[in-house]
Amino acid sequence: MKERIEQVEKEIEQYLITDMASLEAYRIKFIGSKGITKELFSELKNVPNEEKRAVGQLLNSLRQKAEQKFEESKEALESQGGASEKLDLSRPANMDELGSRHPLSLVRSEIIEIFSRIGYSVSEGPEIEDDWHNFTALNFPPEHPARDMQDTFFVEKGENEMALRTHTSSVQVRVMESSQPPIRTISPGRVYRNEAISARAHCFFHQVEGLYIDKKVSFADLKQTLLYFAKEMFGDKATIRLRPSYFPFTEPSAEVDVSCTICNSKGCNVCKYSGWLEILGCGMVDPNVLEASGIDSKTYSGFAFGMGVERIAQLKYKVNDLRLYSENDIRFLKQFTAGI
Ligand code: DAH
Repeated sequence: MKERIEQVEKEIEQYLITDMASLEAYRIKFIGSKGITKELFSELKNVPNEEKRAVGQLLNSLRQKAEQKFEESKEALESQGGASEKLDLSRPANMDELGSRHPLSLVRSEIIEIFSRIGYSVSEGPEIEDDWHNFTALNFPPEHPARDMQDTFFVEKGENEMALRTHTSSVQVRVMESSQPPIRTISPGRVYRNEAISARAHCFFHQVEGLYIDKKVSFADLKQTLLYFAKEMFGDKATIRLRPSYFPFTEPSAEVDVSCTICNSKGCNVCKYSGWLEILGCGMVDPNVLEASGIDSKTYSGFAFGMGVERIAQLKYKVNDLRLYSENDIRFLKQFTAGI
């Protein structure tokens, strides 16, 4: 019996307690109700009477030792805040936060996708543009108000006038200057206007310009292309209507409304109870613009259109304040995670 007690004593000394789990295993093994010390105590009755006292004392000190080690180890582990219990070296140190694509990027990609299915390429131009590409080649009369300081951010005034482009129509001119028909292209990009920032206006926003030049391009082609776009973007039930309008670079010109996707044309505060929402401007490219860009207007005709990306995103995602797009508020951006 004495030898057995000595052996258990050694075992207790050597038992390694590194975390809460091994502490619990130790407790069960040595001091629990089915543990070794309890078992030894129950064997005390078999010990010859003359040895009982001595063995009893040994057992008591064994139990004390076992309990002392338990208490000390527990205290040590708790003072580490249970850290060793939580330490899992296989876990990544920092969880990677998944980002999401910006709603304007999602809409831009979708527009590109829709037009690439009917053969449109993507072209881009500079954001700092000269007067020729932004205005003159697009048939803007010299005194046109859009050239005014109120609308345009000028980078350089005077002879080499440079400005932040006010629309992506400038890319039309660049494409026509550098290629010959047939031309089928869309030009997405950022544009700038000197406007006071509010829920409905911003000093920068995004457009996608479209241009189709070939022999015998007609207004019917334009209408059909835009109807296809509206249905792809807003669903099969979407319809469009064209209202006569004016742009210096197109003749005839029109503004296009799409049936309100928010109220199904029943009338709501977004469509101002009209059932229609304006999404773009368009028209047949003015012969003056074709000629200015080096394209024979007697052989070729074409159409052009320009849409606001924010406007389309607003209709798709029901965003009612333009400022949200550029404030980087994580609560806003997180809502688009599913669109990755
Ligand atoms: N550039 C125009 C704007 O910024 C939009 C536009 C209208 C583009 C008609 C076009 C067009 O190509 O044909 O408001």
